[in-house]
Amino acid sequence: MKKLNIGLFGFGVVGEGIYKVLEEKPQLNAVIKKIVIKDPNKPRNAPQDLFSSNPDDILEDDDINVVVELISDADAAYTIIKKSFGKQKHVVSANKKLIADHHQELLELQHANNVSFLYEASVCGSVPIIRNLEEYFDNDLLNYVSGIVNGTTNYILTKMANENQSYQDALSSAQESGFAEADPTADVEGFDAASKISIVTLHAFGKKIKAEEVIRKGITSLQVEDFKYAQEKGATIKLIAKSQIDIKTGEITSTVLPTFVSLHKTIALVNNEYNGVLIGSSLADEQFLYGKGAGRFPTASAVLSDISALKYDYKYAIRKYENTQSGVFNQSGKIRV
Ligand code: HSE
Repeated sequence: MKKLNIGLFGFGVVGEGIYKVLEEKPQLNAVIKKIVIKDPNKPRNAPQDLFSSNPDDILEDDDINVVVELISDADAAYTIIKKSFGKQKHVVSANKKLIADHHQELLELQHANNVSFLYEASVCGSVPIIRNLEEYFDNDLLNYVSGIVNGTTNYILTKMANENQSYQDALSSAQESGFAEADPTADVEGFDAASKISIVTLHAFGKKIKAEEVIRKGITSLQVEDFKYAQEKGATIKLIAKSQIDIKTGEITSTVLPTFVSLHKTIALVNNEYNGVLIGSSLADEQFLYGKGAGRFPTASAVLSDISALKYDYKYAIRKYENTQSGVFNQSGKIRV
């Protein structure tokens, strides 16, 4: 089993969770060698000599073979990831905006540099949605991926539906519970969900839909009356992210929209910060993935699953992805050494 020497960018709640797990489980054979953060002098729950503010302390260290990138600044993360590939380091990231914005380029670069780039934590937290999409039989046509991919908005909508709270009260409650950010725009306007469905679409159908191309509406204009109306009709309202392919034309439509959902449907049972995704395919028919989509330990669990997958040289095959320039991904099979 390969030894993983990890350079960690960012030491927020997820980074700290990962550090703790790896410290407590030496049998995983994965060790954090250096942690780069903005302020190395701030007191933290890890030995001070692990910290640095200089990215080169990771990037130029040839002993470090894995970079785990957990910073919120998408531009800085983009630079870190490209430099890491250039130094033949594998990369694990949870940065959905960055991945949605530069998805194809980063996949090409990881291939050109013969490293792995894994990002299960970028979509639906603990739920292994990307890995699962990769596992479907190559020739089984996926028809749609549809569901709740944002925990913050689902928490707000659950409060509005079940406790008759106004949007503002439900948002405050989400902020107090630590789900919504002080600036909740990316969540409540559907930008976060648009980035996630963009990433998922490439793994489902092999085609890229940019986050800006997703037809999107957030939840800010929903009112208690809307939920009362939904209840009268035996329904509730969920923010549904969906990508669907027109089998005849190959055209893909991606949307993020507040949607009436019958209370009899499985997706209506996905409440609070939970995520739930339906995958529709010709042979397997409909399947459902469910779990915690946000929060410290759920996100850490997805990052840790990527870290352990690196021991087996796991790469996303993206077998349906047709790159006209190099044609690399549609030819490659999954590689497990
Ligand atoms: N803000 C995101 C959410 C975090 O609420 O789902 C996890 O991606």
